[in-house]
Amino acid sequence: MAGVVLKNLTKSFDKVTAVNSINLEIHDKEFMVLVGPSGCGKTTALRMIAGLEESTSGEILIGDRIVNDVSPKDRDIAMVFQNYALYPHMSVFDNMCFGLRLKRTATGNVWPFNAKRAFTEQEISRRVNEAADMLGLKPLLLRKPKELSGGQRQRVALGRAIVREPKVFLMDEPLSNLDAKLRVQTRAELIKLHRRLRITTVYVTHDQVEAMTMGDRIAVMSNGIIQQCDKPLTLYNHPNNLFVAGFIGSPAMNLLPVTLVREGTDLIADAGSFRVTLPASHAEKLSDYVNKTLTFGIRPEDIYDRRLPGLVASTAGNTVPMEVDVIEPLGSDVEMYLKTGELLLVAMIDSSSLAQVGDKLEVILDMSKSHLFDPQTEQALC
Ligand SMILES: Nc1ncnc2c1ncn2[C@@H]1O[C@H](COP(=O)(O)OP(=O)(O)OP(=O)(O)O)[C@@H](O)[C@H]1O
Ligand SMILES: [Mg+2]
Repeated sequence: MAGVVLKNLTKSFDKVTAVNSINLEIHDKEFMVLVGPSGCGKTTALRMIAGLEESTSGEILIGDRIVNDVSPKDRDIAMVFQNYALYPHMSVFDNMCFGLRLKRTATGNVWPFNAKRAFTEQEISRRVNEAADMLGLKPLLLRKPKELSGGQRQRVALGRAIVREPKVFLMDEPLSNLDAKLRVQTRAELIKLHRRLRITTVYVTHDQVEAMTMGDRIAVMSNGIIQQCDKPLTLYNHPNNLFVAGFIGSPAMNLLPVTLVREGTDLIADAGSFRVTLPASHAEKLSDYVNKTLTFGIRPEDIYDRRLPGLVASTAGNTVPMEVDVIEPLGSDVEMYLKTGELLLVAMIDSSSLAQVGDKLEVILDMSKSHLFDPQTEQALC
């Protein structure tokens, strides 16, 4: 077992800095998710940990060993890719134990001649059977990959990683080839598997829902930089900056410009077509920003239909008249686009609301959950 530490890790290709001096400490047994939009450097970071990509500068530690100059096969890692890359002519069993059957010389190099097998057939069989049991692959061990469903193939790829009993799993979008239902199911299986094996895992995805549901912690990346690394709910409730606020959560947080106005003891966020009162805890942090323009954030799920019973009482400072512009029923909730003047807000309203397009609707904003950002630095103020 081992943690992974990245110190000022950088990778530059000719003109692109794919990973820009990232620092990350992945604890032993932790499930760490790297998430971010396409091209932000996730795969490059993972490939550097695996040793498949040489870093331009910085250090990588697995356990307490610096591994920059250690070859991939000696790093005690196992990688699962998006395309499972199974050998089509081999059975599930043979695919799973392929890596274990490679012969090794006394120095540990893989070499087909004059070399000993690293593992006995008995040991190989034990490991494959144990992994197959865990993954529900026992009845499929003699099949070829083409006789399997996508989800089953994915499990074989996982099995192949598990039998190596590595110190660290590295997974690059391993579920993205699966259909939506299977993805959710396999996601749950992976979480259970991690609870059972407790192997340190670095998991790459661009899907923030996957990140939120799977990660012990999540590192949000953009442009080769880690924007914030924290537990899922901390990221959701306390995003450090505008990027994280907009990236985590679906539908995304509403973000709009407001001017801060002092009225008596109250601090008001004036969005032009509506005004709301900030809670006292926010006001304390914002005294330097009175009469300045800030970015106001409120999540769709923190907006309520006033007519429905709810946890947040309506006050003059949190209730806003809006017009229903578009309705997208999702079952238990309705995604509603609400208009006021030029502004459009997205709200997740309980479907018992029954509001129709064109209706006037008073909505309550849960101001205790509102966010304010400095539009210049993009940093969160509260
Ligand atoms: N071998 C390479 N040569 C040049 N540029 C590269 C190379 N590999 C990656 N890049 C660039 O580095 C940046 C990061 O790429 P990377 O594959 O790490 O992104 P990613 O976050 O994994 O994206 P995706 O979600 O699309 O897989 C991109 O701008 C990409 O074009
Ligand atoms: Mg990638």
